[in-house]
Amino acid sequence: MKKLHIKTYGCQMNVYDSARMADVLAPLGYAPVDAPDGADLVILNTCHIREKASEKVFSELGRLRPLKERDGTMLAVAGCVAQAEGAEILARAPYVDVVLGPQAYHRLPELVARAARGAGAALDTDFPVDVKFDHLPAPSGNQGPSAFLTIQEGCDKFCTFCVVPYTRGAEFSRDAAAIEREARALVEGGAREITLLGQNVNAWHGSDGEGLGSLVRRLARIDGLERLRYTTSHPRDMDDGLIAAHAEEPKLMPFLHLPVQSGSDAILDAMNRGHTVAKFHEIVARLRAARRDIALSSDFIVGFPGESDADFARTLDLVREVKFAQAFSFKYSPRPGTPAALIDRQVPEPVKDARLAELQALLKVQQDAFNAATVGRTVPVLYERAGRNPGQLVGKSPWLQAVHALAPAAHAGRVLATKITAVAPNSLSGTIVDSQLDGGERRSA
Ligand code: SAH
Ligand code: SF4
Ligand code: F3S
Repeated sequence: MKKLHIKTYGCQMNVYDSARMADVLAPLGYAPVDAPDGADLVILNTCHIREKASEKVFSELGRLRPLKERDGTMLAVAGCVAQAEGAEILARAPYVDVVLGPQAYHRLPELVARAARGAGAALDTDFPVDVKFDHLPAPSGNQGPSAFLTIQEGCDKFCTFCVVPYTRGAEFSRDAAAIEREARALVEGGAREITLLGQNVNAWHGSDGEGLGSLVRRLARIDGLERLRYTTSHPRDMDDGLIAAHAEEPKLMPFLHLPVQSGSDAILDAMNRGHTVAKFHEIVARLRAARRDIALSSDFIVGFPGESDADFARTLDLVREVKFAQAFSFKYSPRPGTPAALIDRQVPEPVKDARLAELQALLKVQQDAFNAATVGRTVPVLYERAGRNPGQLVGKSPWLQAVHALAPAAHAGRVLATKITAVAPNSLSGTIVDSQLDGGERRSA
């Protein structure tokens, strides 16, 4: 048995890919371990989205180098930094054995074997994404009650700040029948919730042109599957069929991550987001009309080049108007090769810091208020795994809140009505009030 350690950075698509890499290496006798010490192969699955994320790779490689010298550990770099800077990795860290981009994971066994033969470092950053999905093995089925399923990759939107179109290539939708097969296998393996993934997941379309709403309805028919989610969506691809699915399909959870980035039309335009602030508000209104209890999450960038105090004030206005249950916010990070990095009017770092602090304070107040409002309510929780304290399980509310409750281990994988009793900074506590609820039976909130 050989030991495999995979360290994952970045988005959920990388989490999914890391699991697939472990699956593709299993037949070669590699079994996952939690730490790099003593591993035969270490894979860094990297993220290129912001400068800090990218730089982590080189510092981590520096830390791993002694392991390689001591134990002969093989080092591989996968993911978006590998795709964007493959040659530079081999130049800056020549002791790396394998560099492979996100579309080449099915070739991992071959590349590892070649490196093991001492044939020199192997680099594969070719692009044909369809080949990747055709050649990866089906998920091994030990993913637990909540599983990820990548249905779409890549991005054609070319927001001026973003590297994803360059690291993940053009938009590609997987075939609906293949997705359904994978979803059924996940459910047979114990999944009760599936989160459909894509860089622009709602740009997914089937061979007949049907959209994500119709895929959601198709997957919702799978017995034993209780919950569906999808992430990350783009406002431009929020079509009528998908909004209607939120109204009509109870398995589709009432929580949506819909990045807006800025509340200023001038900045949205400079970002090439392809929609206005008014359009975003209209989409939110339609979603809320479709599903009254839908909670929203978003991504924000502060300090995009040229962002004035007035532009930033409009972002705060948007947040106050929409009210988010949760959100991620980032300082703009200039990325090599993207148009925005070439704009002269970069915002000074201290201004970015101040804006980020102000935005995060407002978002935190909204998140706390959202969580506090669930106290005293009884909500369905999908229990997933052991919690912090003995005898506890932790699960998720429909709105993606972590909920801790005292429960026997056998309740993992079940959706149980739970009365929320208290709120902590990052989770809720509750008491299970209905442990008879089982299998296909669901409670709406
Ligand atoms: N496809 C998704 C986002 C993928 S990247 C979408 O279109 O919304 C995740 C988040 O990282 C983005 O929403 C954005 O907020 C942030 N991000 C991307 N590039 C960035 C950059 N250069 N600097 C700072 N934040 C960035
Ligand atoms: Fe990046 Fe924009 Fe594509 Fe999202 S839509 S991945 S932010 S280019
Ligand atoms: Fe990062 Fe690549 Fe995901 S750049 S956010 S790992 S698509």
